[in-house]
Amino acid sequence: MIIIQNGQLVSPQGLTKADLAIEDGRIAAIAEHIEPGENDTVQDAEGCYVFPGFIDGHTHLDMDSGVTVTADDFTTGTRAAVCGGTTTLVDFATQDKGDTLMHALEAWHKKAQGKSSCNYAFHMAITDWNEAVKAEIPQMFEQGVTSFKAYMAYDALKVNDAELLDILKTLKPYGGILGVHCENGLLVNALQAEQKAQGHFSPAAHPVSRPPEVEAEAINRLCYLGKLADMPVHVVHLSSALGLAEIRNARAQGVTVYAETCPQYLTLDETRYKAPGFEGAKYVMSPPLRSAADVQALREAVAAGEIDTIATDHCSYNFKGQKELGLCDFTKIPNGGPGLEHRPMVVYTSMVQTGELNITEFCRLLAEGPAKLFGMYPQKGVLAVGSDADITIWDPKAKTVITAARQQQNVDYTPYEGFAVTGMPKAVFVGGVLAAEYGQPTGKVVGTYVKR
Ligand code: URP
Ligand code: ZN
Ligand code: ZN
Repeated sequence: MIIIQNGQLVSPQGLTKADLAIEDGRIAAIAEHIEPGENDTVQDAEGCYVFPGFIDGHTHLDMDSGVTVTADDFTTGTRAAVCGGTTTLVDFATQDKGDTLMHALEAWHKKAQGKSSCNYAFHMAITDWNEAVKAEIPQMFEQGVTSFKAYMAYDALKVNDAELLDILKTLKPYGGILGVHCENGLLVNALQAEQKAQGHFSPAAHPVSRPPEVEAEAINRLCYLGKLADMPVHVVHLSSALGLAEIRNARAQGVTVYAETCPQYLTLDETRYKAPGFEGAKYVMSPPLRSAADVQALREAVAAGEIDTIATDHCSYNFKGQKELGLCDFTKIPNGGPGLEHRPMVVYTSMVQTGELNITEFCRLLAEGPAKLFGMYPQKGVLAVGSDADITIWDPKAKTVITAARQQQNVDYTPYEGFAVTGMPKAVFVGGVLAAEYGQPTGKVVGTYVKR
């Protein structure tokens, strides 16, 4: 057995000083004191928090956009994840237009199997909705895929409102959940064209072409579709105060709206696009970074319990050679940024350490919330006897500085370059196996598929 001694066990309900024993990949016991036997290994967690392993509910690993492939695959992305304290991620298997959901799922299993340092599950991104695809939905549930995604923007990915409504109605009898990329794609196309017509081709034009109204209008529409279908909806990567207002309004009308935001929308703002030269391309993601007032509004919503999960939307592209594809035209810059390794450290340092967010709420947003929303609870997301031994021992006093030079993510920059961290994972267990210590991988590739 492995015995974690003297730590503060964290749950959204509170802190408990207790020991915890791991056996055969599960949590075998939790007690005030567990006496180690002579064959047991002891992990001292004195002065540390012990969390259920963090879950990142939004990643894009080994994703081919048709023009280029994300810099992180499952080998590098999941290694980076465990180094930061994340023990499970939910990646987006993405249907190619004209192809089946089952093909996409098989392809994503091939990308992940045998290569993953952390556990993984898949959302299915539906990009082509028709009767044949609709008929595949029961099979998705049989395969352990219970969450889906649809895009309201990107010509190659988006579905229309009628299709969205039908997807929601189709998922309803199964209790599935639909996450939606909320941006009005037609407006984005028009505003991008307007920027180019005005001679604006640099990364600074990116946020201008995707203002908060474009997000808020799509959130509003999605919420009404949820109301019509009598189905909960899940807004992914919420970035703006205007979008938040739409969620509040829909909730006040009785619509169940789950909201995810990301560390970049809680810590970085649109001034990044004013960086010299092409530097702003590092922050070209959709939705874009917003104003300082938006950042503040989202932080307050997180602190007030209005947000259900904090995920990364990790979608890494190298600055050299990949982001540079859009050197002469901002619309050709691959959208997305890295964050999988640094999410717990960035949120802990910027919100828990500063007193804005309780440690228990931090646990809810990074572990229990995504586990419950995505059908993994109580197998994951909680420290309980019988649950998987995915555990992050957190040293709240450890300090480091985030830098691309030392990161595990396979990408040549980080949006958090120079960010001084207080609080990082001392030891990370995946299924009872030590996967990382103080930001360094142990090399154990033990992640398994989470069939939900
Ligand atoms: O810019 C982003 N977020 N790229 C990843 C795909 C998505 O929209 O989630
Ligand atoms: Zn998206
Ligand atoms: Zn995404």
